[in-house]
Amino acid sequence: MNADPLDLDGHEMVIQCRDAGSGLRAIIAIHDSSAGPAMGGCRIAAYPSTAAALTDALRLSRGMTFKNIMAGLPHGGGKSVILLERPEDKTPALLLAFAERVNGLGGRYITGEDVGSTVADIQLMRKVTPHVRGIPENGPGDPSPMTALGVFVGIRKAVLHRLGAETLTGLTVAVQGLGAVGSRLCGLLHDVGARLVVADVDPARAREAADRFGAAIARPEEVHGARADVFAPCALGAVLDAGTIRALGAAVVAGGANNQLATAQDGARLAERGILYAPDYVINAGGVISTALEGPGYERGELLRRVHGIADTLGEIFEHAIADGVATSAVADRLALGRLEAARHARRSA
Ligand code: NAI
Repeated sequence: MNADPLDLDGHEMVIQCRDAGSGLRAIIAIHDSSAGPAMGGCRIAAYPSTAAALTDALRLSRGMTFKNIMAGLPHGGGKSVILLERPEDKTPALLLAFAERVNGLGGRYITGEDVGSTVADIQLMRKVTPHVRGIPENGPGDPSPMTALGVFVGIRKAVLHRLGAETLTGLTVAVQGLGAVGSRLCGLLHDVGARLVVADVDPARAREAADRFGAAIARPEEVHGARADVFAPCALGAVLDAGTIRALGAAVVAGGANNQLATAQDGARLAERGILYAPDYVINAGGVISTALEGPGYERGELLRRVHGIADTLGEIFEHAIADGVATSAVADRLALGRLEAARHARRSA
């Protein structure tokens, strides 16, 4: 982040929201709206400090700018965080007070589900603002199936590129995290005959995957080192650091988790080891594409076409990485910044 405290990581607008009546404490961060109204979910969590919440909001909203522009969506990047002291502090009054703040922005920021917020929470917010997405009645609803599909087509593209494999049949994929995205991804992989190694901190989820898909179970802290063709992180961020990269057992890393690289240098570390990394904000964009297409003109065929398009974007990144001899993460950042500059230029000239 820039040393100037007022720079706030290059954000266009950062708003602190407080409401004494409901106890609301929230931050809405709009990183860049050159490509269109900022879109990104509302994270609800107990943060150790306001500073930690601000850092999270800024990091996540900047990430949404990159994700949305690489997915070709007419949306900029934004994100909001609601700070809770305890989980039971998430009350309807607090959610409605937050929705009023979103509404006050007049559509500059569109919110939706994220860690800690549910479809029911968003449906409640819809009572006071139209600037929410992820309402099942208006389109595809839960974004996770499309996130999983995007990761699946991305894995197919990556193994073709790195291993020359035309099919996933018989290949082994190690999946870390068996939640909404990871469990659906396992289903898609199993359907095409891939072998699975799975891990989750919740042992019941790992056992369920073993029963349903004949998967082998690995320990959560060791799954990245499993002997596999692909490692698919679908749990936490920052799973790829100097230590885990050294121990990786797969030639391809392609999964749904956000912010997989602990630091920018870790992209280069992967490339140095000859491991093909599918940049997270490109491969996991299926959910935001699903959310963006929600509304009166929603067509499932168009949604599927665009989610399958993630493979083409990854193909372009992989080709550039080879041609220029740089890491795929660096190529993705460069492409995203180029598109962002073009959007900024178009807005200035409009
Ligand atoms: P989830 O909360 O449904 O599932 C996460 C799973 O990971 C849980 O089963 C949890 O027990 C497990 N887990 C947590 N820590 C772990 C560890 N250290 N090792 C192994 N397993 C662990 O979350 P969801 O929705 O499946 O999202 C997964 C990741 O994908 C997150 O990073 C999320 O930000 C990202 N993502 C999700 C999207 C979506 O549409 N749901 C869209 C884009 C990104």
